[in-house]
Amino acid sequence: MGKLTIVDHPLVQHKISLLRDEQTGPKEFRELVHELGMLMGYEVTRDLPLKEIEVKTPVAMAKTKVIAGKKLAIVPILRAGLGMVDGILSLIPAAKVGHIGLYRDPETLEAVEYYCKLPFDCAERDVILVDPMFATGNSINAALHLLKNKGVKHIKLVCLVSAQQGIDLIQKEHPDVDIYVAVVDECLNDHGYIVPGLGDAGDRYFGTK
Ligand code: URA
Repeated sequence: MGKLTIVDHPLVQHKISLLRDEQTGPKEFRELVHELGMLMGYEVTRDLPLKEIEVKTPVAMAKTKVIAGKKLAIVPILRAGLGMVDGILSLIPAAKVGHIGLYRDPETLEAVEYYCKLPFDCAERDVILVDPMFATGNSINAALHLLKNKGVKHIKLVCLVSAQQGIDLIQKEHPDVDIYVAVVDECLNDHGYIVPGLGDAGDRYFGTK
């Protein structure tokens, strides 16, 4: 089964609380999602392989470490996932970025694909799939199948607010995928929204409601 990491860092938990607050407007919401992208990015890159190099300091030669040229791609699920990209990208600027567009059929809550553009060499890259909301898991499940159909072999999933139902689905369907979330909430409501959650992440980020 894929490893589930709940990122319980105080800064993450604090910013999630601000994000949840219905009084938080789009400007602050965007800033928080950006900062959380960075903080989650720090955790998800924790096991990047290192290699030893030598550099000359002003004092002496030093044996020191750098990241061992891992090829990465960040893939947000549109549209709410977009907000987390820049924060992660600021830590790993050489990563390529793909996009997967899925919407939820309001009746069935099933994911419907409307856009997919991935780096041409995505099969050789480790992919960080991002979506702030991990509710039923249907969109994430569809995105993971899509990535795997394109030949991607190593995927990590990074979300902010999750529900156990979605986590159970992805751990069952994709036991090879490690999952990083900030919080696991109580349940989903009849519309598939996370309770207590934070509402519609896309609408709150883009100010569309
Ligand atoms: N997507 C959202 O934006 N919010 C939820 O609570 C669930 C899915």
